[in-house]
Amino acid sequence: MDLAELEVELRGLQKKALSDIATTEAVASLDELGSSLLGKRGAITDLLRGIGGLPAEDRPKVGVIANEVRAAIEAALEARRGSVGAAELTARIERERIDTTTPGPAPRLGSLHPIPETIGAIARIMGNFGFTVAEGQEIEDDVTNFQLLNIPEDHPSRDLWDTLYLREPGRLLRTHTSPGQIRTMRATTPPIRVILPGRCFRYEAVDASHGFEFHQVEGLLVDRGATLADLKGILDELARGLFGPQAKTRFRPGYYPFTEPSVAVDVSWGGAKDGWMTILGAGMVHPTVLENGGIDPETHQGFAFGLGVERIAMLRHGISDLRAFLEDDVRFLEALR
Ligand code: PHE
Repeated sequence: MDLAELEVELRGLQKKALSDIATTEAVASLDELGSSLLGKRGAITDLLRGIGGLPAEDRPKVGVIANEVRAAIEAALEARRGSVGAAELTARIERERIDTTTPGPAPRLGSLHPIPETIGAIARIMGNFGFTVAEGQEIEDDVTNFQLLNIPEDHPSRDLWDTLYLREPGRLLRTHTSPGQIRTMRATTPPIRVILPGRCFRYEAVDASHGFEFHQVEGLLVDRGATLADLKGILDELARGLFGPQAKTRFRPGYYPFTEPSVAVDVSWGGAKDGWMTILGAGMVHPTVLENGGIDPETHQGFAFGLGVERIAMLRHGISDLRAFLEDDVRFLEALR
């Protein structure tokens, strides 16, 4: 090969390279193309292998041409890398773009079961009158559930509470929250204003309005000079708080061994299908019970009430069968949201 032929080859290589570079669409492909042209085993090196056969004075001329070709290819690669790289970046940003305005999946909100919801409503209203919330215990003993509440063993009034006894002698599932009165009086000193919500148990046949397991909220106030009128005033406020300003209460004579006098309290809630519904038993704490709680009945008086949570929840939410409270049907809970 002579100088002229070699120059033609080199210029041809340059031309082909520039057109290849112009049509290459990816930075990675440009890199490959670059090393196949300019690399140690690239096309230019390949051509220059023939330089040894040229006359000595022609060799530098070939070197000059080869350098021009190399520089032209490098410049073209560089320019193309710039534009192809920018296009790739734009495409990538487009591909990975996140639309932060797209609404996410809606969280599934839970809701309170109507029993704790109702207990919470009672606690808030009673809280306005200075009552705090405490808890008794579901497994009680005969002494606290009955005897200290003025209900001796074999007393006929025990028939009021169909009791579930435990195998251990003297132990039972509490039939009402009233034993909490004794526990509270023994644990603190007057003035006492407390409510005791919780689950109670009775050996009862289950139907739409009776459960063997149900909830009560006990209320207890002990102070100097507490009267039945105070009880009536607070229960009126409780009824209005739970059912609205039109709600009324009605006291009827009642009987409980641990209160004297005792009353049964009905509420008229003033809504559709209005009527009187008995929601609680109450009365002035019996002097013997005050004494059993370590309180002197000569200086202090108290009133207590025990209300049925299921009945109030049924009225508040229009539920007609209390068995629904114990079934775990999510549709029931969602309907009350
Ligand atoms: N413990 C009674 C019951 O379960 C209700 C009650 C509580 C009555 C407090 C008077 C005072 O029926």
